[in-house]
Amino acid sequence: MSNPSILILPGDGIGPEVMAEVRKVIGWYGEKRDLNFDLSEDLVGGAAYDAHGTPLTDETMAKAQAVDAVLLGAVGGPAYDDLDFSVKPERGLLRLRKEMDLFANLRPAQCFDALADFSSLKKNVVSGLDIMIVRELTSGSYFGEPRGIFDLPDGQREGINTQRYTTNEIRRVARAAFELAKKRGNKLCSMEKANVMESGILWREEVTWVHENEYPEVELSHMYADNGAMQLVRWPKQFDVIVTDNLFGDILSDCAAMLTGSLGMLPSASLGVLMENGRPKAMYEPVHGSAPDITGQGKANPIACILSFAMALRYSFDQGAEAERLENAIETVLADGARTADLLGPEDGSPISTGEMGDAIIAALGASL
Ligand code: IPM
Ligand code: MG
Repeated sequence: MSNPSILILPGDGIGPEVMAEVRKVIGWYGEKRDLNFDLSEDLVGGAAYDAHGTPLTDETMAKAQAVDAVLLGAVGGPAYDDLDFSVKPERGLLRLRKEMDLFANLRPAQCFDALADFSSLKKNVVSGLDIMIVRELTSGSYFGEPRGIFDLPDGQREGINTQRYTTNEIRRVARAAFELAKKRGNKLCSMEKANVMESGILWREEVTWVHENEYPEVELSHMYADNGAMQLVRWPKQFDVIVTDNLFGDILSDCAAMLTGSLGMLPSASLGVLMENGRPKAMYEPVHGSAPDITGQGKANPIACILSFAMALRYSFDQGAEAERLENAIETVLADGARTADLLGPEDGSPISTGEMGDAIIAALGASL
C-alpha cells in the first residue's frame, strides 16, 4: 500500500518557518515510528499571488482535493493589504475550505499546566482547561448571497453580506459536534443569536432536532453567542464542546484561544465528508495568523502548527496514540521551561528560537521511545 499523502501549504509570513519544524516532526515519525507520508508542497495566499497572480491556482486546488490531508501554515500580510478583494491571500484559504467542503472546524483550547500563569485570566480559571469549539466553516455570512458593495440612488453605498443556513448545513455540523462530545465530556453547548436572528432560531431548532433524534444521551444546552463570549472569559471550564456558526465561531475561537495564554499554541482541524478511502476531507492549520511583525526572525512559536499535525495523526491517519505521544512531548518541553518569545513576559529571561523549540520537541519525542 502506498503511503498516505500530505500537501504542505506553508503560505505567508511565519508560515514557512513554523512548517519547517513540522517537517522535522514528520521526518521523525518516518525514521522512528515507520509512519511515512508522501509529502508535496505548494503555494497559497500572498506567496501564490506573487508567483501566479492568484492566491490559489486551480492546479493547487486540484492537488488539495486529491491528497489525504492538507497542512497549511498561514496566509496574509501588509504587502497584500491594497490588493483587490478577489485576490487577497485570505481568498485562497476560503476557497480551500469551500471547495473541499470542510464544514466542521475543530478548534481545541487547552491550557498547558506550564503556561497557566501566562493567561490573562486567573490561574484557577484556566488551569486544566480543555474545551473544543466546533465552528461551521463553509456557510453563513462568510459565503451567503447576496453579498457585495452596491451604489444607492441617493449616492450612498451599501455593503451587504447574508447570514444564511439550511437544515442540512446545521445538522451535519451539529452531528460532528455531538460525536466529539460523546468521546469527551458528553456535553454540548450550541451558540447563536436566536433572540434577534431567524437563522439563529433555525440553528437552535435543528440542533435540538439532531439531539432528540440521534444523540439524546448527550447533554445539550443553548446559549446566545454574546452571553457565550462572556461565559468563556468568566468560567470557561463550564464548557466541553461548543458548536456555533462561521462568524460567531471565528470570534469565539479567538476568545477561547487567548484563555490558554498564547495564540501560538492552538491548532485546528477542518473536516469534511468521508472520502472513498474512509478518511475525511481534511485540512489542518494553526489558529494564529501570519504574524508579519516577527516574520523571518526565528521568533515564531511552532507549537500550534506541530499540534495541527498531531490532529492530522488523530483525525486523518487513525494514529491517536502517536498524536498523544506528540502532545505529551510538547507538554514535557514546556514543563522543562522551553519558551519562545510569545510565551515570555518582558522580565522572564530570554526566549529560544523557532528552530530550537522544534529541536526540543524532537528530543522529547526521542525520549518517549
Ligand atoms: C480564521 C481566520 C480566517 C477567518 C481569515 C484569515 C480568513 O481569522 O481562520 O479564524 O476569518 O476564518
Ligand atoms: Mg479568525
